[in-house]
Amino acid sequence: MNLKNRNFLKLLDYSQEEILYLIDLAEKLKEEKKQGILRDDLKGKNVVLLFAKDSTRTRCAFEVACQDLGASTTYIGASGSQMGKKESIKDTARVLGRMFDGIEYRGFEQSIVEELAKYSSVPTWNGLTNEFHPTQMLADFMTIKEKLGYIKGVKMAYLGDARYNMGNSYLVTSAKLGVDLRIIAPKSLWPSQELIDTCKEIAKTSGAKITLTEDLKYVEGVNVVSTDVWVSMGEDSSVWEERINLLKKYQVNKELMAKADKDAIFIHCLPSFHNLETTIGKEVYDKFGLNGLEVTDDVFESDKSVVFDEAENRLHTIKAVILATLG
Ligand code: CP
Ligand code: NVA
Repeated sequence: MNLKNRNFLKLLDYSQEEILYLIDLAEKLKEEKKQGILRDDLKGKNVVLLFAKDSTRTRCAFEVACQDLGASTTYIGASGSQMGKKESIKDTARVLGRMFDGIEYRGFEQSIVEELAKYSSVPTWNGLTNEFHPTQMLADFMTIKEKLGYIKGVKMAYLGDARYNMGNSYLVTSAKLGVDLRIIAPKSLWPSQELIDTCKEIAKTSGAKITLTEDLKYVEGVNVVSTDVWVSMGEDSSVWEERINLLKKYQVNKELMAKADKDAIFIHCLPSFHNLETTIGKEVYDKFGLNGLEVTDDVFESDKSVVFDEAENRLHTIKAVILATLG
């Protein structure tokens, strides 16, 4: 498998074999790290990390992965560079491409990361856009494989806001990997019909089963339950009320988990609003009286929850992407 010089922008661009290869490589890198085996495959390479939105996991995973592989990193946050304000994306891409061997971008429209890739002529990686979160998908399906032993045929329910980066990405990745995915959400928050049609077409060859429904009964017997925050980064806080009203019935709580298979796992990309220990969680509680949003604290803290293994796997999977495309 040769992925050298490829961009990693969305999983629609990758075949099932390539996605599974990256997960296998991540497993190998995880094992090596546990054994203290050090690598310097990327010695002398320089990587720039563009974060127009905040991050804990993705930023740290890119920084530690590069460090572990011998590459240097330069972090640029939402302010502090000329990008977008005094300099176009196209010009920024051409400058960064002259100085760096790889570019990570987290931010807004998918078109921005696509443009960076097009004009930089170095491997460019999507660290989350409004539309897709592909590195998260590698970590999620690596975690599913670790915990359940398989991916193809796994039954998975995704509940909540399905029209944004996480919902879209589960749809694409499940279609590619042959998963039985049930998107359980109000119709107004489903992925675009165009993306659904594309994924249903992909499902015909992978054996995936794609269900979109508003009916919670589709949680019955699933092996994996997943959700995401109800309001994403970059959205205005004025949408909370409408979103809570639309999504409260889709909260992942004990009653909902009881419908899933008895050995089902709970995953979440994080960060998550499951208690009052965050500023936003507290504000939402003061206004709406809910002390857990997309998931209740008892599920989040239960032994079904594998969210911190999933978070750790962000490191190994992001390292696999960097190594495969730059190494
Ligand atoms: N899951 C995820 O992307 O987390 P961060 O926002 O902390 O990077
Ligand atoms: N949908 C969330 C995912 C965070 C990792 C957001 O975009 O904020």
